[in-house]
Amino acid sequence: MIQRVLTGITTTGTPHLGNYVGAIRPAIAASREPGVESFFFLADYHALIKCDEPARIERSRLEIAATWIAAGLDTERATFYRQSDIVEIPELTWLLTCVASKGLMNRAHAYKAAADANLAAGEDVDAGITMGLFSYPILMAADILMFNAHRVPVGRDQVQHIEMTRDLAQRFNHLFGQGRELFVLPEANVDERVAMLPGLDGRKMSKSYDNTVPLFEGGAKGLRDAIARVVTDSKLPGEPKDPDSAHLVSIFEAFADDAERAAFRAELTAGMGWGDAKAHVVKRIERDMGPMRARYAELMAHPERIEETLLEGARKARLVAAPFLAELRDAVGLRRMVAVAAPAAAAKAKLALPSFKQYREADGKFYFKLAAADGRVLLQSDAFESGREAGQCVARLKAEGIAAVPDAPVAHGVGVSAQDVADALTALAAQ
Ligand code: TRP
Repeated sequence: MIQRVLTGITTTGTPHLGNYVGAIRPAIAASREPGVESFFFLADYHALIKCDEPARIERSRLEIAATWIAAGLDTERATFYRQSDIVEIPELTWLLTCVASKGLMNRAHAYKAAADANLAAGEDVDAGITMGLFSYPILMAADILMFNAHRVPVGRDQVQHIEMTRDLAQRFNHLFGQGRELFVLPEANVDERVAMLPGLDGRKMSKSYDNTVPLFEGGAKGLRDAIARVVTDSKLPGEPKDPDSAHLVSIFEAFADDAERAAFRAELTAGMGWGDAKAHVVKRIERDMGPMRARYAELMAHPERIEETLLEGARKARLVAAPFLAELRDAVGLRRMVAVAAPAAAAKAKLALPSFKQYREADGKFYFKLAAADGRVLLQSDAFESGREAGQCVARLKAEGIAAVPDAPVAHGVGVSAQDVADALTALAAQ
């Protein structure tokens, strides 16, 4: 069976080593596996949630797109697109929003962290929180469900969002699937080994900690300068170092194979100085990054080529999204107005019985009528002074059937035969 792998990167910043090692590289590797169909995209609608600087969004989209391509993504084989080019995604977001429980969204980490920070600061719980931030997991669910992805490679911080996606998918399937699995329930793929690439200070490499190593920015010198700033202990050259407590080693190991890892560790234990060790790390990263950096520069000089690639990707993605969304619209009842069955009327005509209806008119008198299942009036009563009298007459007709009709103050409806009335009363009596 074809496995669909899907992931996106929010386009708010300049890609760093952590994005490459944690997201782009493993995703590209997955896209090369046999039997895998991959969908990779720029999450630019997500970017609007945390960034209101248009120039930064514009720049970041270009840089992240160029990074994917420079890193070796085969855009013929994978479907590579911008989220905002797929008009079906916001529409699916709405369909999912209508089945999303607010309580579930209250528990989403991104929202909860912001709300908790407000409370801690003595502010209103929702101060400065947009509906975009609140609904962020629903948009993410739409990204994933639009293409019915099986596997979603993400960092550990995103696992909750995949769980929410499964929850929404299940609920939608239950409400509208009529026994069919409209949506596949996706699995998060977290590679523990690389999910935690440490930054300069040893915490997770992240734009928000300002501890990142740039991927291409600043060229080879930028890389060298950043690695020079990686925090180490103060052991001197000649002193044995503990490879397990050095995050410089973790950074190295994100690029090295087993033999290279063993050799590097041995040299550190034998007393290699941190300066030499850093030069070694730079050289190893540069071996992978050097060729990519040249491709990246070439692409950045030709944004129109990237644009073309993304438009082609959007075309491919919409070939999947448009027919699926049509199916989903149909499932919820957003249908073309042809051959529309009146709600339940068809079923009602088959199942429903004739019935007596009692009512009071503007003249203050009481009446009843016997209506056929399709609403046709079979019998119409004269006026009664009280509801009780009308009720007694109905009871007699029900109990005695057609035999009670000649004595009752009732008239047949237009075009109604005695047989029609007899059949209706028999059907009622059989109840
Ligand atoms: N929210 C993700 C992040 O910040 C990015 C993202 C958006 C995503 N939509 C997605 C990742 C769908 C995987 C699948 O990292």
